Amino acid sequence: ANRELSCCWMFLTFFRLGVKFHIFAAATVEQFEQAKNKLSTLKNDPGNEAKLKIYALFKQATQGPCNTPKPGMLDFVNKVKWDAWKSLGSISQDEARQQYCDLIGSLVTAEGGTTLAAKPAGSGTTYETLLVTTEDDITTIKLNRPAKKNAITTEMYNDIIAALEQAAKDDSVITVITGAGDFYCSGNDLSNFTKIPEGGVDEMAKQGGDLLRKYVKAYIDFPKPLVAVVNGPAVGISVTVLGLFDLVYATDRATFHTPFSQLGQSAEGCSSYTFPKIMGSAKASEMLLFNKKLTAAQACGLGLVTEVFPDSSFQSEVWSRLKAYAKLPPNSLALSKQLIRSMEKDRLHAVNNAEVERLMERWTSDECFNAVMSFFQAKAKL
Ligand code: COA
Repeated sequence: ANRELSCCWMFLTFFRLGVKFHIFAAATVEQFEQAKNKLSTLKNDPGNEAKLKIYALFKQATQGPCNTPKPGMLDFVNKVKWDAWKSLGSISQDEARQQYCDLIGSLVTAEGGTTLAAKPAGSGTTYETLLVTTEDDITTIKLNRPAKKNAITTEMYNDIIAALEQAAKDDSVITVITGAGDFYCSGNDLSNFTKIPEGGVDEMAKQGGDLLRKYVKAYIDFPKPLVAVVNGPAVGISVTVLGLFDLVYATDRATFHTPFSQLGQSAEGCSSYTFPKIMGSAKASEMLLFNKKLTAAQACGLGLVTEVFPDSSFQSEVWSRLKAYAKLPPNSLALSKQLIRSMEKDRLHAVNNAEVERLMERWTSDECFNAVMSFFQAKAKL
């Protein structure tokens, strides 16, 4: 397999050198060209996974979504490349170009080189499942498991906590969380429940509870304006923490779904407090108890979302607005945010603790176990 991927790598290098591309988004032409040049300066082999990702993003950036027929079972090299390209779904060429630049930038930084215009945040920390960059005074934390709809694994929870801690300290004015691909986030990765540690299910619930408490705490205590750029459907914990953000911008393709009772679980992310406060208890219960999925327009009408944008202009409208906001005086912004949240902080921590306690019990219940098993069984039948 390594040899096959080396072929991919050679193919990629050849392809990169041999083809002239027409780039339409003026703002990223230069970065993309720089990224292509930087690629050839890498001293170390970035590994098979990164090489495939680079290949896929390059194809998506230059040709759009994968539209070629699936290679045959025995055509291993092309099949693995096709899978990587296909897994990017319908992300736009603009976004693919940006992700390509982000990825090459993080590889260059990891080798101690200079970065591209969008630089990885902090001291060059790179994450397996996140793309973290700082540009135009905005630190962006992009969930980056598009093939799994950005479901949050244990590792990813820890990475997001670390990225938020870093963003709190860096020079940026605004912090954004968004998703790669066609989903914002599909919530907790349900396979987290299938990794049972030595101490058994109780230990799994305890470790999960500690992690969740810490994760939600990172949002409650976040000191700067925090913005969700909801680029597609959102599920579970990616929805419940939205009440802790300062702005929530959504594409009109986004939906908001918290199927806790369906999964034998209960609310988290402080939503048992923030949702009734934001939308009233009747509407909050419809979501948190009865799994009602909201459209972006409905979520906006209920006050969970700040504004909805047409999908076709979502990225350009949102980012031009955020770039303008990031030019406002940073201390004034941070201090005002802290004032707005300060009365609530103790209560939010108490809510977080209570929700985690309840969930630790739920995670050991038959109701939860059966629901998670049926999710994976249904997938296995497909
Ligand atoms: N946990 C683990 N894997 C997940 C996941 C999650 N929360 N969400 C998506 N995935 C995986 C799927 O298993 C699938 O993996 P595969 O390609 O290896 O089979 C892949 O992501 C793509 O998802 P798929 O279901 O094929 O896409 P879809 O567009 O048909 O549906 C969802 C997307 C999100 C609606 C569906 O995957 C889903 O319901 N996921 C569970 C969401 C959930 O309950 N989250 C927890 C809330 S508390």
